[in-house]
Amino acid sequence: MQMTTTYSSMVSVLKQILPSRVRERRFWRRCLAACPDFKMSDLNRAAAEFLRSQSAEGLRSLTPRPQAAKAVKTIAASKFLDVDHWLRINLVRAAALGLNRKTAKRVLDLGAGPGWFLAVCRFYSHEVQGFDLPYCEICPEDSAVYVELNRALRVAPDIHRGRITAFSPVEIDGEFDVITAFLICFNNLKSKGTWQAAEWRFFLEDIKRHLRPRGILRLQFNPDEQRFPRYLFFDAETRELFRQHGSLSQDTFTLST
Ligand SMILES: C[S@@+](CC[C@H](N)C(=O)[O-])C[C@H]1O[C@@H](n2cnc3c(N)ncnc32)[C@H](O)[C@@H]1O
Repeated sequence: MQMTTTYSSMVSVLKQILPSRVRERRFWRRCLAACPDFKMSDLNRAAAEFLRSQSAEGLRSLTPRPQAAKAVKTIAASKFLDVDHWLRINLVRAAALGLNRKTAKRVLDLGAGPGWFLAVCRFYSHEVQGFDLPYCEICPEDSAVYVELNRALRVAPDIHRGRITAFSPVEIDGEFDVITAFLICFNNLKSKGTWQAAEWRFFLEDIKRHLRPRGILRLQFNPDEQRFPRYLFFDAETRELFRQHGSLSQDTFTLST
């Protein structure tokens, strides 16, 4: 605990003294480490192409919310209105899964939220489907952002509405080449009943039924330092479960069929 505190205070001091451009470059270099064939120049080119394409037309009519720009750290959905940041994050997510190559795949994104990942995958010619809570089950400020971004990114009709619940099959049909879930909250994050090994085991067995041969499942977890001070994302038993089923690297789990 002592070490964690010392480390995080060192990180916050470093953040204050490093110029923002240096911090930004370090941040993107760290993100791009996950995709060796996709360099900073590729990311810049892909972002510019996306913004020139039809996929970005709706973004020009987004309601300006000055507070939201650069609010990347907040837990509120308004952070997703920072177009440049979230476009790039999702281009990197796609590249890390090889989805920047134009071989059409079927992609399912669980907890699709704003729809950035779906829009980027469609930009790369993939067939996309999302899954997220009904808008009425999301707090009004967040759902207003999701409604607006889903429309602007033209993915609203592709996001099936339902709730992922412990020990229940996810209500989706069909098989996919790639199934993703980024910044996961459906595990009752930071609330009573946070998923543990039994819930995740059920989820993995269920979701694997929707993966085509040579398919990939990619999960990216949100940290819960209070509950899991040691492994940040889950307890030791859950960590072991993920290790048995696939590969685990920091906040990311990957399973291939
Ligand atoms: C932090 S956001 C992440 C959005 C997106 N995956 C991304 O990283 O850009 C979490 C998303 O999970 C959705 N969500 C939370 N609980 C859920 C549940 N039980 N079933 C389905 N979706 C859920 C929320 O509505 C929200 O869109």
